[in-house]
Amino acid sequence: MIYLDNSATTLKKPEAVIQAVTTALTQLGNSGRGVHEDSLKSSEVIFQARQSLCQLFNGEQARQIVFTSGATESLNLAIEGLLTGSDHVITTALEHNSVLRPLYRLQKEKGLEVTIIPADKKGTLDYAAIELAIQENTKAIIVTHASNVTGNVVDLKKVSDICQKHGIYLIVDASQSAGVLPIDVQALKIDLLCFTGHKSLYGPQGTGGLYVRPGISLRPLKVGGSGIDTFNPEHPAMMPTALEAGTLNGHGIAGLGAGVDYLLDETLEKLNQKTRQLTQLFYQEVLTIADVIVYGDFSVKERCPIVSLNLGQRDSAEISDLLSYEYGIATRSGGHCAPLMHEALGTKEQGVVRFSFSSFTTEFEIWEAIKALQKISQKG
Ligand code: ALA
Repeated sequence: MIYLDNSATTLKKPEAVIQAVTTALTQLGNSGRGVHEDSLKSSEVIFQARQSLCQLFNGEQARQIVFTSGATESLNLAIEGLLTGSDHVITTALEHNSVLRPLYRLQKEKGLEVTIIPADKKGTLDYAAIELAIQENTKAIIVTHASNVTGNVVDLKKVSDICQKHGIYLIVDASQSAGVLPIDVQALKIDLLCFTGHKSLYGPQGTGGLYVRPGISLRPLKVGGSGIDTFNPEHPAMMPTALEAGTLNGHGIAGLGAGVDYLLDETLEKLNQKTRQLTQLFYQEVLTIADVIVYGDFSVKERCPIVSLNLGQRDSAEISDLLSYEYGIATRSGGHCAPLMHEALGTKEQGVVRFSFSSFTTEFEIWEAIKALQKISQKG
């Protein structure tokens, strides 16, 4: 199989990740739940992963990194933990359902006011509309760093400046960008950064987390065992324990830490230079296919390695199926859990065939995908 569905999850992981998970499975006790060697080993591995993530995102202290099961939990925690029914929040048409659905639920159940900033036909955000949408009770702007449909990147500096000017929180969904693009939470003044572990951070599924700026106190989604302060009826307020009730996924976090260390060693710049070139090659070549429609803005240099397309009016699921069953190429089709983006692009019915690459994608695989699309297009 030629795996080009890396925006859904990266399949090829660095060898060090596989080793770290394998070792963890046989060596880790329960972190923070004992003073024996196996428990301490688990705490050490988890702390190391926290440190590495803190370094990757340039956080202040490792304890500001909280582990979750993935970006969906992180976003639910950020949204549910910060917003109340009397607040107003601004978000965008680029968002994934993991942002939209928690907001819609709070809107329906608690009366949260939600403004959605539209995107144009290329999926580009109307930045001018953001500042105009600010109200007296606006508490936060929630924005994705990069669209999972087009790969285009949001100018976080621009959004952050608006947040700073109006004293509102900035919550960023970095599901597609973490591990691809540099993210400096201090320079960008990001309050909450939600990320997943299993995509470009090369960790296992079921891992992810949240960076929480020092001084922000979130209401936890869950409370319970903490390994400390057993006789206190309330869950401890100290970070990161405050937001990490229950046994952590130590085995997964060991792999996530190894994935992040791999990125720190190899550097994002080096890894992504190659991926960017391959994305451009694929984009330029598929443009020569007669009936191809490519979505998004490719005039910008900084983007995530995604090319979403359609062949004429053909259903995206049909093309994705042909790619899989006849050519052994894995892509994703249909709607990509980003309903408003599909509305902006005009692909609500047809969906899009998404090719997404990783730093392990080879030029050979890119050419195979180009040739397969050419053949599918010619056969009609
Ligand atoms: N959110 C993931 C995607 O875009 C699963 O495919």
